[in-house]
Amino acid sequence: MSSGQKIRVGVIFGGRSGEHEVSLRSARSVMAALDATRYEVVPVGIDKNGRWLVGDALAALTQGNPAARPVALLPDPQVAALLQIEQRGEQPAALTELAHLDVVFPVLHGPYGEDGTVQGLLELAGLPYVGAGVVGSAVGMDKAIFKQVMAANGLPILPWLLVNRSDWRKRPSAVLAQIEAALYYPIFTKPANLGSSVGISKCRNRAELEKGLHEAAVYDRRLVVEQGINARELEISVLGNDDPIASVVGEICPRREFYDYAAKYLAEPDSDEYTELIIPADIPAALADALRDLAIRAYKAVDCAGLGRVDFLLDKESGQVYINEINTIPGFTRISMYPKLWEASGLSYPALLDRLIALALERHAEKQPAPLSAQPAPEDE
Ligand SMILES: Nc1ncnc2c1ncn2[C@@H]1O[C@H](COP(=O)(O)OP(=O)(O)O)[C@@H](O)[C@H]1O
Ligand SMILES: [Mg+2]
Repeated sequence: MSSGQKIRVGVIFGGRSGEHEVSLRSARSVMAALDATRYEVVPVGIDKNGRWLVGDALAALTQGNPAARPVALLPDPQVAALLQIEQRGEQPAALTELAHLDVVFPVLHGPYGEDGTVQGLLELAGLPYVGAGVVGSAVGMDKAIFKQVMAANGLPILPWLLVNRSDWRKRPSAVLAQIEAALYYPIFTKPANLGSSVGISKCRNRAELEKGLHEAAVYDRRLVVEQGINARELEISVLGNDDPIASVVGEICPRREFYDYAAKYLAEPDSDEYTELIIPADIPAALADALRDLAIRAYKAVDCAGLGRVDFLLDKESGQVYINEINTIPGFTRISMYPKLWEASGLSYPALLDRLIALALERHAEKQPAPLSAQPAPEDE
């Protein structure tokens, strides 16, 4: 390990997604809580244009610190280090080694961070990293593929339809008729690949459905159209690689029409619109056990690793539960649901970080190909 016995952790935050600011908040909490006797933190900020920066990276992103230096990761596992990009005028001219990394913690939410893209780069670079790999991240990000994987595994999801933007634009009346034949109002419209409720609408009639499809189509080529229900929202934190464990159940109580962007990020804690987190959720023990079982099955079905938060909708009328989504890099501030659920389950925030880094190192070691002698001999045909 670099620098004596300390593990050098690259914490990556910011990024090109709409959840840039949320990521900064999560990263601030993570960096403050990583045990300084065990870890040396290298903060790496990605600005909204996708440029990677070091040198008080948080200040660089929030105050435009001119001293921040652009860096790169090479897709070469022999390097496994951050390289500083030396500029000649406007052009990158050379790369010099800056810091070898032992493990990376991508604290990035949404596209270009939580969707398998950064994970692909880290795979190429041969670096261990916290959280799901390429497939788990990509499936967790794409609401349509996620639902297909849930359905294929017999896991409960709400009735839904996939609408292609091009179809919607070419044949709007046919698309509306198809939706109205399959679902009843209210209907939710969502871009397949986004988060933080951006582009999501609750539609109560045909006019709102048209508006909702139009809005979702701003963000993605593929639109998820889903049965709306009057629901309680329950969430479970899952932690682990091949043998994941599930936390107690939490509940979010949005005070707005639904848990939209404003409810998630704009409402102040004392305001009327603030979303309350109830931990543990007031539900029967048998239901909590059933949800934990579903959460672990969903987590394994998408090949998650490290961490993931599985979100459920519980129909207030029928009592039925549905898996809504999985977040492979959930909000990670000290007051976020993911770490709060672990705290309530007996795992403190710093201990959770230790565990995540250990899981990243374990998974990396496990992925290395076994020596030929250790592989089972091929069977005779
Ligand atoms: N089918 C549905 N029925 C009722 N409410 C829903 C439904 N789908 C989404 N919502 C509401 O919209 C919010 C955001 O939707 P979600 O699918 O979780 O997207 P995101 O990935 O942006 O969090 C949910 O937290 C919930 O409040
Ligand atoms: Mg959600």
